[in-house]
Amino acid sequence: MPIRVISSTAELHEYTRGRLRAGQSLALVPTMGFLHDGHTSLMREGVRRADVVAASIFVNPTQFGPKEDLSTYPKDRDGDLAKCEAAGVSVAFLPDAHAVYPPGFQTYVNVEKASQGLCGDRRPGHFRGVATVVTKLFTLFRPEVALFGEKDFQQLCVIRALAKDLDLGVDVVGMPTVREADGLAKSSRNSYLSADERQRAVAISRGLFAAQAAFVSGTTRAESLLELVRAQLRAAAIREDYVELRDEATLEPLVQIVAGQRARLFVAGFLGKTRLIDNVRVG
Ligand code: PAJ
Repeated sequence: MPIRVISSTAELHEYTRGRLRAGQSLALVPTMGFLHDGHTSLMREGVRRADVVAASIFVNPTQFGPKEDLSTYPKDRDGDLAKCEAAGVSVAFLPDAHAVYPPGFQTYVNVEKASQGLCGDRRPGHFRGVATVVTKLFTLFRPEVALFGEKDFQQLCVIRALAKDLDLGVDVVGMPTVREADGLAKSSRNSYLSADERQRAVAISRGLFAAQAAFVSGTTRAESLLELVRAQLRAAAIREDYVELRDEATLEPLVQIVAGQRARLFVAGFLGKTRLIDNVRVG
């Protein structure tokens, strides 16, 4: 069956009612489009976990700051639909902004603790926009499972918290970061990079992997691990937005990794105007 494209919330409600009547389970993959292998890895995992897989493709205006890239965010509607179909998606939701935020819209979801620090501090209002649109998608689709990438680890924490706190009954699944051959995390925003910036961008993952290796050889102090990442950023003239070590479960900042602790190193940096993020587990 060819992929079904839905653009109105009324049609989506009707689809969901029929799907629930038929007793089919659904896996949802929310995206902003310009799809790459990171996105399709989530869709393929959805195929393994549910009867049907749905994807949303929506560049959500409420999660962009006034000086961010909402108007230039890359788009490829036909290419995205072909990739969805090849990955086993049977329903794609492509609303316009008015369908999601009709005039008079005034209800927002704020996940308080997980939205603090890291990208939450650098991008005020970002996670409020993410949490609001994801709650709407969960309400419209009523999925059994929803898949998100660890590439956006803080976002994954925000979504886990909202699904739990609001009793949405969705199993939120985190999936490993898919990388380019040289280690750069795949991202729709990589398309903004010039050839020179693309070459330098690998310093982000190189720094994270260097710190991971240092941890394996016994370095546990945050200061030492962070300096290994920063050295790579400096060498590639990447402007640091943040480099931090945090506990994986609580997202509390750490000065030292203690035995048995699961920690994560988080990086955000600018190459020209392009802001890239990445993270890896240490410990
Ligand atoms: P977007 O950046 O399009 O990402 C959609 C999903 O793909 C997210 O769960 C993200 O973590 C995951 N993803 C992106 N790059 C990945 C990679 N290299 N490996 C694995 N997974 C990757 O994140 C958003 O859109 C939006 O904030 C959204 C959740 C759709 C809400 O608007």
